[in-house]
Amino acid sequence: MIDAATDGGGMEVIMNKFIFSYPTKVYFGEGSAQQAFAAELGRIGETVMLAYGSGSVKKNGVYDEIKLLLEGAGKKIVDFSGIMPNPTYAKAQEGAALARNEHVDFILAVGGGSVIDCCKVISAQAMLDGDIWDMEYGKGKFPTAGIPMGAVVTASGTGAEMNAGAVITYEEKKWKGPVFGTGATFAVLDPAYTKSVPPMQVLSGAFDTLSHAMETYLGTSDQDNVSDDLALAVMRNTVVNMRRLLADINDMQARSNLMWDSAMAENGILKCGRLTDFQAHQIEHQLGAYTDCNHGQGLAVIHPAYYRHIVKDAPEKFTRFAKVVFNADTAEAGVEALAGFITECGLPTKMSQLKSTVEITPEVLRQVADTCNIIKCNPRELGREEIYEILTECL
Ligand code: NZQ
Ligand code: ZN
Repeated sequence: MIDAATDGGGMEVIMNKFIFSYPTKVYFGEGSAQQAFAAELGRIGETVMLAYGSGSVKKNGVYDEIKLLLEGAGKKIVDFSGIMPNPTYAKAQEGAALARNEHVDFILAVGGGSVIDCCKVISAQAMLDGDIWDMEYGKGKFPTAGIPMGAVVTASGTGAEMNAGAVITYEEKKWKGPVFGTGATFAVLDPAYTKSVPPMQVLSGAFDTLSHAMETYLGTSDQDNVSDDLALAVMRNTVVNMRRLLADINDMQARSNLMWDSAMAENGILKCGRLTDFQAHQIEHQLGAYTDCNHGQGLAVIHPAYYRHIVKDAPEKFTRFAKVVFNADTAEAGVEALAGFITECGLPTKMSQLKSTVEITPEVLRQVADTCNIIKCNPRELGREEIYEILTECL
């Protein structure tokens, strides 16, 4: 979600300029929290904010395990709980104030994308005199410093643990959008920590991963771009392993593969040298701002309708996607195979199936269409009327 570029049209498409580096050290696999803490303790400050959501980590024992590791190393813990799915700007400000008051010098996010994203903003905001939202959306300047942070992933899908972009909802402004915060210096990816994630969230998260790879792939690139080939591999692997979970939701091999797919899809590797699309994400984020719906599920509803609109604008790309990911013959058949796969997974296919704080009416969808970000490097730039049309086709 981070770096949707703004212009892909007009010029000959070659590998784009890029700088590539990896600031996040990943500890992957069962028991990797112990390994990570043993290696990283010297770099973790004395006062650690232990940040989490509504309590799933307390129920499944992850919180106790992490707390023990920190206390065993003599760290002072500042608890910050209640980070909600689709984290709000107000919650991030609350965390930043606490971090300042308690002189926190390290933040540990323990949770899914929502907890990790909120912590990225807490980290940067706590070191700023100005307002981080105003910097991002008003001044176009980004924070250069933040309280160092780490991430312990308990629900995979977003890939938030390996990038510095945070998706935050500013409730009063009715806007859900990216804010550049701080990236984690290290991330623990232990598939065993995801065992307690409810099946629908597991699949919604995995669909988010699939969406990241599809959206990246459908941006602007040259025909034989290596990042596109990698994106297709991530998509194919995500679908294969989601199908394994449909047969056995506790298949830990499949969960492990999906956890790495998730990180791979959003750690920047697939974006090297190319422009990215992310139009479905822009629409879904605004749908989230108005309805607080689940991110992966919102994407599942929007994707097929959006792709039916643009399939003729990128026939070669959609045909390759159809063949590699769904073993289908034509571009259109690939889009329908994607729609069928969403149904097969039991994910929502209509707006009325989304859990929402407000009823999703045509009026709400009008507001979403009128306010969402429009990306220029997707196969075709959409107009607001067409976005509204796409959204109403999902009713
Ligand atoms: O509140 P808690 O207790 O954490 O419960 C969560 C929440 O209810 C639960 N959960 C997490 N780990 C669990 C667990 N339940 C049982 N056992 C566990 N081990 O799962 C629910 C959903 O969690 P959440 O963090 O909201 O899900 P997800 O990881 O899908 O994150 C979604 C957020 O990330 C943003 C989305 O927009 C949304 O706000 N995104 C962030 C991105 C990024 N930073 O790169 C990219 C994405 O495109 C996305 O926009
Ligand atoms: Zn996403």
